[in-house]
Amino acid sequence: MSWLLPRLGVNIDHIATLRQLRGTPYPNLVEAAKIVEHAGAQQITIHLREDRRHIQDQDVYDLKKKIGIDMNLEMSMSPEIVKIAHKVKPEWVCLVPEKREEVTTEGGLDVKKYQKKLAVLIRDFTKKKIKVSLFVEPDLKVIALSHELGADAVELHTGRYCMGAQKALGKKSATVAAHEFKRIKEAALLGEKLGLHVHAGHGFDEINVRKVVALNLIEEYNIGHAIVCRAAIVGLDRAVREMLAAIQAP
Ligand code: PXP
Repeated sequence: MSWLLPRLGVNIDHIATLRQLRGTPYPNLVEAAKIVEHAGAQQITIHLREDRRHIQDQDVYDLKKKIGIDMNLEMSMSPEIVKIAHKVKPEWVCLVPEKREEVTTEGGLDVKKYQKKLAVLIRDFTKKKIKVSLFVEPDLKVIALSHELGADAVELHTGRYCMGAQKALGKKSATVAAHEFKRIKEAALLGEKLGLHVHAGHGFDEINVRKVVALNLIEEYNIGHAIVCRAAIVGLDRAVREMLAAIQAP
């Protein structure tokens, strides 16, 4: 094993989702990022979507200026977003597929279809010393091609494994979880052999992540929804007490 402990990138997109729902000045993303940093995570992950449904351009600039940990900017290949990434210079960009109507990122990048475009993007980001990760299916051919194109890392899409492990796929759940886990393991082994950084993300919770961690092959986890959901529960007591104090002891 070439690292001691896996890194955690906390995806704070859904903190921004709560803000965008009402157009309020809160929750403050920099404040959230500072808490993440203080709690010991190594990275903030944000997805600047073309439809700007959660993270806004100003968030990206503010966070880059004010956080002391790495920024991993998830993004599509859209020229407009690429331009912003070049300007902001995050430590990492993670190229993801993006569809307007999706609830969240569905499936990995079609690396074969977009290989020419990806090679140019990777070359240009590398010139600017921005490391590039490709969000991909745990598929051996895709991992090999990502390496050929010069990516620094692959982030393995773990969504189907996680849904299976959460029994969210009905009767198929256990079979899908076992099949996807095997794909993740094989893809991670190949990535490691090729010298790629191997990251993983999508759908992890505190339970389903453990089996993947036990493989000792994943260097970095990018996790968002489960952390924000958990924060809503463990933070609720304090939030209620603060509001009670505001109305009863102003
Ligand atoms: N990694 C990538 C590339 C993603 O698109 C997402 C979702 O935005 C995540 C990680 C985090 O997924 P989740 O919110 O399910 O933990």
